[in-house]
Amino acid sequence: MAQLWGGRFTGKTDQMVYDFNASITFDKRLFKQDIEGSIAHVIMLARQGILTGGEKDSIIKGLTGIRNDVEEGRLSITGEYEDIHSFVEAVLTERIGEAGKKLHTGRSRNDQVALDMKLYTRLEVLNVTECLRELLETLLRIMEGNLATYMPGFTHLQKAQPTTLAHHMGAYFEMFKRDVLRLQDIYKRMNYCPLGSGAFAGTTYPLDRDYTSSLMGFEGPTLNSMDSVADRDYLIEFLAALSTIMMHLSRFSEEIIIWNSNEYRFVEIDDGFSTGSSIMPQKKNPDIAELVRGKTGRVYGALMSLLTTMKGIPLAYNKDMQEDKEVAFDAIDTVKSCLILFNGMLSTIRFNHKVMEQSAMRGFTNATDAADYLVNRSVPFRDAHEIIGRLVLYCLEKNTSIDALSLEELKEISPVFEADVYEAISLKTCVEKRLTVGAPGREAMEDVIGKNREFLKALSEDTNVNNEE
Ligand code: ARG
Repeated sequence: MAQLWGGRFTGKTDQMVYDFNASITFDKRLFKQDIEGSIAHVIMLARQGILTGGEKDSIIKGLTGIRNDVEEGRLSITGEYEDIHSFVEAVLTERIGEAGKKLHTGRSRNDQVALDMKLYTRLEVLNVTECLRELLETLLRIMEGNLATYMPGFTHLQKAQPTTLAHHMGAYFEMFKRDVLRLQDIYKRMNYCPLGSGAFAGTTYPLDRDYTSSLMGFEGPTLNSMDSVADRDYLIEFLAALSTIMMHLSRFSEEIIIWNSNEYRFVEIDDGFSTGSSIMPQKKNPDIAELVRGKTGRVYGALMSLLTTMKGIPLAYNKDMQEDKEVAFDAIDTVKSCLILFNGMLSTIRFNHKVMEQSAMRGFTNATDAADYLVNRSVPFRDAHEIIGRLVLYCLEKNTSIDALSLEELKEISPVFEADVYEAISLKTCVEKRLTVGAPGREAMEDVIGKNREFLKALSEDTNVNNEE
């Protein structure tokens, strides 16, 4: 049992209490952030004359040594410390003596952990953005290569109108693009430094909070020391954004699973990204997509868990807040691995163009266009709708499609039909004539692809800047 308090106590902590209270088993993953924050704190303390230059140098050397030793496996973070903050301070004091004990001057674990979590989350916001960027690259590549890959679009999972694979993938591009924008938004709002808030009421030491915050790349210090130590909004926002990403991935997974089914055969998942059955030799299962869909639940769970943890907590810090970590870490790990795996599956998937196109030709996806044909020849839309409805019924009975009927058969149902109807309701026309902004017609799609290329270019320039920082 190594803890940072004890002077006030005469009895020993019960081992069960100690274990229940300790967070080292999971907050050890904050060791880099903890050390980064401590280094900034110490630089500021020395600049303010609170520590001597010698003390500062020795503490920084000690902290850097601890970080390197942990990273390179020479020092392990063990369960005998209560939390990561105790571990770092104890090892530091062991290594450099008296000066180590001065590290915590003007600081509380409350503002320390608030900072550590914020630094960790801020970094993960960038990491998840990078995973999204890679997925967006894959999507845009598929879009560029499939402007004329015709397929049926669905409503109610029933064939509705024809579209293209580029257009369908473009819908997911928009979703994941919004996810990126949401993360950028969260980053901006969260980027204020809580360090220097003390336990909750600031401190009487002349700390320079502006300086510490600038050392760690924050926009500035947070403006209420009580809120600083009690705020986990940024983490809730991040978990909400992660939940939305999973919702998008889950919908996409569901489509891949349907498209991969024996009935659809729109896609074939690469062997490297599918699995077999222990009993049925013919099986090739879309397990990755199913797992991504399944893991969505635990990410939503993390969001609900933290929202519930926070809802009854009075100001300022309360130990309940230690419960933010395990769920958040798990959600972050889950989303990153889902994005990476899903991207791997998507970038190697084969789309069966022929099957998709044939599927678009069957199922009356051109019925709307057939009605529009009549409308363009002065038939009121309601009447046209009725006429085509009867036409569909006729085709169903004959087990054929509208475009396979002879002109005589068409004319029997409406004399307005002429020979040019075949061209007007061909799959190609149905798609290519749809040129409103955001529609699947080639020129409309090319325009959108151009805009999204620009978006990705700006995003990767952004990422490079972040990596250099
Ligand atoms: N392990 C604690 C947490 O994660 C650190 C803060 C402890 N502060 C305190 N006053 N006990 O929240």
